[in-house]
Formats: sequence, structure tokens, C-alpha cells
Amino acid sequence: MDNMKRDLPVAVFDSGLGGISVLRELRALMPEENYLYFGDSANAPYGVRSLDEVRALTVDAISGLYQRGIKAAVIACNTATSAAITTLRERFADIPVIGMEPALKPAVLEHPHECVLVLATALTLREEKFSHLMERYDQWAEVISLPCPELVEFVERGELDSPALDAYLQQRLGPWRERADAAVLGCTHFPFLKNAIRKALNENAVLYDGGAGTARQTRRQLELRDLRREGDDLGSVVIENSLDTPEILGRSCFLLEL
Ligand code: DGL
Repeated sequence: MDNMKRDLPVAVFDSGLGGISVLRELRALMPEENYLYFGDSANAPYGVRSLDEVRALTVDAISGLYQRGIKAAVIACNTATSAAITTLRERFADIPVIGMEPALKPAVLEHPHECVLVLATALTLREEKFSHLMERYDQWAEVISLPCPELVEFVERGELDSPALDAYLQQRLGPWRERADAAVLGCTHFPFLKNAIRKALNENAVLYDGGAGTARQTRRQLELRDLRREGDDLGSVVIENSLDTPEILGRSCFLLEL
């Protein structure tokens, strides 16, 4: 394996800014890797689109990144993973393509909980991938699926803390406040709203997200194929967005350093 290949970036893709929560975990775990982040904010939110649309947008975005030279692709979006992971793995079979799913498994197995909320997009929650996850784990706890598409837009606007956000969460999560003792953040935008989500839930409720697990899975895949970058100098991070405005790029850098 030549070092030129190891120096290629790991592509990280999301419908918008949410995947930056995964990029943060990747960078914390593998700071020496080079990263190329692409957010498709011009077409976000994906979670309210049809399966075919999301698959086409995702395949298009990854094709563009692949042609530029990448050594792996992390689909840092639960919605895009549900719609496109099989097609992506067939189409780009010579690189590892790492997907995401709501962290229901650790939420029900690592700590016993009585009632677990899964917050995600409508598409993630209605797709087959999530039904399989439910079949495997809903015997261990009462699992309630709650689509929260508006939360994606709060993050895209950079509104991480506001009375409107609190009111929305109150209305959406309030009915479960007494009952739910855990919540799975099944959309990569949601970890940026952790503080607000915590306020709307019972103070003992535990939050789970899949970012750190995805970073570990990416490291495993790179190691398996002898693709880890050598040396310990810090890698580069390039952030691009289909909505190429100073606001969106500034917001991306802000979220990366948060
Ligand atoms: N961040 C994406 C996810 O993890 C979805 C956001 C969207 O609806 O565009 O599901």
C-alpha cells in the first residue's frame, strides 16, 4: 500500500451541517487523518423527501467526492444511510463506505431503560433498516419513535438555543417527560441540540448518539484495509457545502469547534 493512497482524505457526507457532529468524533479519534466534509444544505432537509430522491442526491454527492480521490466515505447521516447504503457499497466497492443507524442497541443493552425515545427524521423511522433494528431491540424496552424534522432546520439556521426551540421541544417531548428515561439522537443534527433536548426531558434521562461508534467503525475499516495515514502530524480538514455562502461555511467551522 503506498502512502499516497493513505494520504487521501476520508470523505464525510451529510444532507447539511449535522455530519459535523460525526466529523468531530472522527477528528478526536484519528486527528492525523485528512478529511473532506461535504454538506448538501442546498437540498436539506432530506428526511422529508422521498426515498428515491434521497438516494439520488446521496449517490450524486458521493460520486463527485469519489472522482476527486478519497480513501473512504462516511455517510454521516442516518437518513442518507437508510436510503442509499446498499447502492453506495455496490457502486463504490473499492473503498469502505461506512453508514449510520440510530444508537438503539447501546440504549437498550448497555444500560437497562424502561422507555426509550428515538428522535430521528420521518424517513429514517419509516425505512426497513429501522424496522429491523426495532425487531431486534424493542423486546428490551418500550421504544417510542418520534419524528422531529423541524430540529434539522433549527441546526441549519444555527439556532441551537432559543425560546422557539424550547417551545418546540416542550410540545414534542413534554408528553414523555415523566416516562422516558433515555433518548436516542437518531439524526446527526441532533447532538448539537443536546442541551435543549436535555432541558425538555426528565433530568435523569440518558442521551445516546451514534457519532463515536461510527468513528470507531471507520477506524476499524481503515485498519482492515491498511489505509491508516502514517505519522502523527495533524491531518487537514476541508469543509464544503452545496450552499456555498459565507454564513453556512462560517456556521460549519463554528460547529466543528463547538
Ligand atoms: N442529518 C441527517 C440524519 O442523520 C438528516 C437531516 C435531514 O433531514 O436532512 O438523519
